[in-house]
Amino acid sequence: MSTIAIILAGGSGERFQGPMPKQFLKIAGRSLLQICLEQFQGHSGIDGIVLVCPAAQLDLAGEMVTAAHISKVQKILPGGKTRQESSFIGVSAAPPGIENVLIHDAARALVPAGIIAGVLEALVHSRAVMPVLKVNDTAIGIDEAGTVAAVLDRSILRLVQTPQGFRIEIIRRAHEMARAEGFSHAGDDCSLVLRYRLAPVVTVPGDPNNIKITYPSDLIVAEAMLNSVTRNA
Ligand code: CTP
Ligand code: MG
Repeated sequence: MSTIAIILAGGSGERFQGPMPKQFLKIAGRSLLQICLEQFQGHSGIDGIVLVCPAAQLDLAGEMVTAAHISKVQKILPGGKTRQESSFIGVSAAPPGIENVLIHDAARALVPAGIIAGVLEALVHSRAVMPVLKVNDTAIGIDEAGTVAAVLDRSILRLVQTPQGFRIEIIRRAHEMARAEGFSHAGDDCSLVLRYRLAPVVTVPGDPNNIKITYPSDLIVAEAMLNSVTRNA
C-alpha cells in the first residue's frame, strides 16, 4: 500500500512567541522541521511527503529540504488559517494512487520511528488510527464558576498525539463534510472522522517522548531529549 506523510508546519506559533514560527527554530544545528522531516524520510513505510508551510517561509522550507536531501518531499504548499485548513490543503494535494496518509504536526518534531511504525501497522486493518497516551494526573470536570463538578475516570481517558493515519478516502470525505458544515477548528484529524461517524478510530500506543513543542520551555526539553538520544546512540 502506498502511503504519504502530510507534515503540518503552517502555524505561526502564537503561544511560543518566537522570532519566527517555532518549527523553523533550531536545536543542535537543525530546525525542528528538518528533524521532523528526517524521521519520515528515514522510515521505509513512507513513500512520499507533502509539506504544508506558512506562505512567508515557503522558500526557506524549500532550501532546507534541498540542503538536507529530504528527497521524499513531493510538494511544499502554503497553509491555511487554521490547522484544519492546512490539513485539508495537504490531503487535497495527495498524489493519485495513494492509499494511506499519515498526518503529523511538525511541532511534534521528535516523533519516534516506533510510533510511525505502530500507526502504519494498525492501518493495515483499520481506516483511521491515532496514537494515544494514558493520563497520569487526576482529571476533573468543572462548572462555569470553576468549581469541581466531577472527578473523571482516568482509566477511560487518553491524550491524543500525531501522526494519525487514514485511508485517503475517509479523511478526504471528513474534510469535505467539515467544509460543507462550515466547521474549521478541529484540533486534530481523527476528530473529523469521529464528528461525521465515518469509521471507527483505532488507538495505538503513543510515546511520552513525542512531545508537542508549544512554549519555549518545551524547546529546552526537546533539546535535552535529542541530546540524550545522541549520547546513547
Ligand atoms: N498548523 C498548520 N496551520 C495552521 C496552524 C497550525 O499547519 N494554520 C500546524 C502547526 O505548524 C503545528 C501543528 O499544526 O505543527 C499543531 O499546531 P500548534 O502546535 O497549535 O502550532 P501553532 O498553531 O503554530 O501554535 P499556536 O497555536 O501557539 O499559534
Ligand atoms: Mg495552533
